[in-house]
Amino acid sequence: MIKDTKENNVKKDVVDNTTKKNSEYWLEHFLANYNKSEKRDFEKINTPLKNGPKTLIKVSSLVQIFGKGPKGKKALDGVSVEIRENENLAIVGPNGSGKTTLVECIAGLNKPSEGKIEYLFDWKKSPMENIGIQFQKSSYPNGLSVKKVINFYVSVFDCKLTKKELESLIKIFGIDEFISKNAQGLSGGQMQRINALLAVMHKPKVVFMDEIAAGLDINIKFRIKKFMKEFAKENGMTIVTVSHEIDEVEYLADRIVVLINGKVAASIYTEEAIKKYGSVENFFDKYI
Ligand SMILES: Nc1ncnc2c1ncn2[C@@H]1O[C@H](COP(=O)(O)OP(=O)(O)OP(=O)(O)O)[C@@H](O)[C@H]1O
Ligand SMILES: [Mg+2]
Repeated sequence: MIKDTKENNVKKDVVDNTTKKNSEYWLEHFLANYNKSEKRDFEKINTPLKNGPKTLIKVSSLVQIFGKGPKGKKALDGVSVEIRENENLAIVGPNGSGKTTLVECIAGLNKPSEGKIEYLFDWKKSPMENIGIQFQKSSYPNGLSVKKVINFYVSVFDCKLTKKELESLIKIFGIDEFISKNAQGLSGGQMQRINALLAVMHKPKVVFMDEIAAGLDINIKFRIKKFMKEFAKENGMTIVTVSHEIDEVEYLADRIVVLINGKVAASIYTEEAIKKYGSVENFFDKYI
């Protein structure tokens, strides 16, 4: 009789594995490890903010519920966050964690169910004129060329760029390659480039970029990110970037806020995250 010892179990496992199809075995183990990592606990981090930078937008205990009754979805569940002058912020988190909802609430596109958003600007203009958003989703008026869409925005918004600056930006964003095309027939990446331009043309105080890198090829991605960082510095603009990309967060953000299930799971300075976890990648690994 074979005793059911640990050693025998290991041997049995090996025998079973050899009889299984390779791909089945791999998938089973992948799933086992995946489930293990799904259950991981994360440490709640709320690093106190450094003294100095002025708070531009203060979000307190924001709740956003979509739909009514038991089927209602709590997309934001008591989110508090501060957006501060010249302190670029990254909002990160898994799909569906509430990042876009938060940005849309701040930008006034969604009315939150509960909570408070304070725009602490002492400017003459309305808060919306001081905010620029590069949307995750986009659509343009039917039948207009890219050039006409840009001209339309120039006339509607208070475009602070000179004609020469606008022309340079069109080149920097690579829009000159498709300027005469119908705006409705553009690829996702081409739309992203236009959206990035529209978000900064009025030189807002805070610019939100929701997944700017999605769909952009490597060259243009790097060019736009570099431009955004330098343009923001030059014009006293604060960048709030929603991103899944580690290198983008590391490059752009001074501070990182992690949203999980509509709650702030971590708020930490990027350099602290690197010190504590060794790299932004390791930090992402812990939370996302
Ligand atoms: N208009 C809406 N009506 C109903 N539910 C919505 C609406 N907008 C968002 N949600 C839900 O709220 C949750 C948060 O969505 P949100 O788009 O904010 O996530 P996200 O973090 O931006 O995700 P992703 O990384 O995929 O862009 C999701 O479960 C989503 O399905
Ligand atoms: Mg989103």
